[in-house]
Amino acid sequence: MAKKSWAEPYKIKMVELLKMTTKEERIAAIKEAGYNTFLLKSEDVYIDLLTDSGTSAMSDQQWAAMMLGDEAYAGSKNFYNLYDTIQEHYGYKYIVPTHQGRGSEHILSQLTIKKGDIVPGNMYFTTTRLHQELAGGEFVDVIIDEAHDSQNEFPFKGNVDIKKMEKLIKEYGAKKIPYVSLEANVNMAGGQPFSMENLKELHALCSKHKIPIMLDATRCVENSYFIQQREKGYEKKTVKQILKEICSYTDGCTMSAKKDSLVNIGGFFACNDEELYKKAQNMCVVYEGLHTYGGMAGRDMEALCVGIRESVMDEHQQARIGQTIYLGEKLMKAGIPIVQPIGSHAVFLDAKKFLPHVDQDEYPAQSLAAEIYIESGVRTMERGNVSAGRDPHTGKNRRPKLELVRLTLPRRVYTQAHMDVVAESVIELFERRNSITGLKMIYEPEYLRFFQAKFNKL
Ligand code: F0G
Repeated sequence: MAKKSWAEPYKIKMVELLKMTTKEERIAAIKEAGYNTFLLKSEDVYIDLLTDSGTSAMSDQQWAAMMLGDEAYAGSKNFYNLYDTIQEHYGYKYIVPTHQGRGSEHILSQLTIKKGDIVPGNMYFTTTRLHQELAGGEFVDVIIDEAHDSQNEFPFKGNVDIKKMEKLIKEYGAKKIPYVSLEANVNMAGGQPFSMENLKELHALCSKHKIPIMLDATRCVENSYFIQQREKGYEKKTVKQILKEICSYTDGCTMSAKKDSLVNIGGFFACNDEELYKKAQNMCVVYEGLHTYGGMAGRDMEALCVGIRESVMDEHQQARIGQTIYLGEKLMKAGIPIVQPIGSHAVFLDAKKFLPHVDQDEYPAQSLAAEIYIESGVRTMERGNVSAGRDPHTGKNRRPKLELVRLTLPRRVYTQAHMDVVAESVIELFERRNSITGLKMIYEPEYLRFFQAKFNKL
């Protein structure tokens, strides 16, 4: 049967011109940036696939909402509107606004984790794990093994391995586990969803042991779309209904609204426990801002309300994820090694397979991201040995199984023609992959080193 085409459920009203650079200019720019794409000037980038965080295009409705900003220090009406919108879509009782995701991770970690605690999670995320560690906890990965294999095509590679969870509870006791850190559409696994069935099983186990489940809801709407597309019994449910059902099996969430919710800045912490809520409000005043704005301007909160409503529209998710799949399939057809199945927010190149001659401690994914930039002006990012950091016990590089380059798609920003250019550039590079060498790290900051580290070419 012929495949049914999709098209963007919007038209373009304003454009931003792109700058083209020469190869010589790009070689100089990436050298200056220490071969770290985070340190490039955005001006020197042609197509920016660094991240889908805060890079979405807002709709006319969102821009109109910006004009409704009530910039009162306390009790802004935009805050109450946001509270209602989050309750309606995510279903949690209590909400504390934060400036972005890591603000809410900080609050949750500091309030719930004690020294020596264990925090199980379905693969780490960089900022999330760091906040857990800074609070004295130790992150333990309980994702299913399939998630660590880039070629495994299991449709729910974000699932928690229930057996690993049971073993952990037996080994440490429920009292040592302040919560399960459950990420939707697992970023570091390649944008892979968990299934509702798996979440229900986890919920049953955690309820038995009175362990809360705290959701990282950053890309939960995208996870909901995958459930609609892939899980039996959910074909006829809307993304909006599925999102609410997911949240109903969890006890609270941290959220970077810069992804799913189509805004450039913002986040929130939510929970159903009144005592935790009150403590979170109090922490918010210390680190984020008053509990009725949490680091966001009134206008940001209003744009976020509209963004949440637009994010759960089925046709939006179909086009958003449809574009990622379009790019992924183009690369696959050309024989480029990418993570399977194609995720929601990005296509991930398997750098170990792309550059098998580069040792992991010479940072193949970092080197590949730099080469893609030199080749075409397309900015991507490393998600491998640099991002994983050092093991706090041994001080050695963690050398994760997945050594990836992420081609991350901002929402509603680029066209299919941009995707064609990106694919062609990667394919060209693949043809001369044997000429690509590794890197040596020459500057390493203490925390989240991937953002600021510098390298030399070997
Ligand atoms: N959780 C997940 C799953 C994320 O992807 C991010 C950010 C955060 C939490 C932290 O949120 O940036 O608002 O403080 N991810 C960005 C990325 C940086 O590029 O993947 P934040």
